[in-house]
Amino acid sequence: MKKNAVTNYVVHPLIEARWSPMAFEEQQISEQQIRSIFEAARWSHSTRNEQPWRFIVANRLSHPKVFKSILSALDETNQAWAVRSSVLAISFAKKNFDEDDSENRHAWYDVGLATAQLTMQASQYGISIHQMTDFDTEKVCSDFKVPENYEPVVSMAFGFVGNPKTLTAELEKKERAPRVRIPQPKFVFGKRWGSPFVG
Ligand SMILES: Cc1cc2nc3c(=O)[nH]c(=O)nc-3n(C[C@H](O)[C@H](O)[C@H](O)COP(=O)(O)O)c2cc1C
Repeated sequence: MKKNAVTNYVVHPLIEARWSPMAFEEQQISEQQIRSIFEAARWSHSTRNEQPWRFIVANRLSHPKVFKSILSALDETNQAWAVRSSVLAISFAKKNFDEDDSENRHAWYDVGLATAQLTMQASQYGISIHQMTDFDTEKVCSDFKVPENYEPVVSMAFGFVGNPKTLTAELEKKERAPRVRIPQPKFVFGKRWGSPFVG
């Protein structure tokens, strides 16, 4: 199943094709592909080149215990479909700078940049990534003994898009629903706030 963006202007085909599925194929993601995906994160840009991103990653077939541990931290709705994903991961932000221990106000922003980048690298392999914020961050910190100066940002389910019929009726309806976006004039401004940009 495809849910390509219906764009008003030209975008890169990988951006057009990316979406967040819940139904996944029973297909393994190779270690090589996982490595490439996180290499894309590695080469993302960041404030002062601090690289404040960290990830815990579990391949369902090769690391079932870690996979289950991440899965158990997700809320019930996310667990229902993420259980069939091929890889689960959690991103973390390092809250302070290495150099002087001061607060890094942009750590989350940088983790988001790295995540966007790894998502596009995954897309190149036909792998979709569905991000989730509905998870128990305290459980994650305790189960994985996360140091105090790091905080969980987002959990992610990776996989190849599967048949929506494998989902519950409610989730299948959501899976098939059209993707919607606000139009550019509502968020790209020109002369003043709220006034649409004109080229
Ligand atoms: C930070 C973040 C948190 C999200 N949390 C959840 C979540 O907990 N459960 C879920 O089903 N989808 C979650 N999503 C997916 C969004 O709902 C989805 O990206 C959005 O509806 C746009 O759909 P698209 O990715 O298919 O374009 C999250 C996405 C992001 C970026």
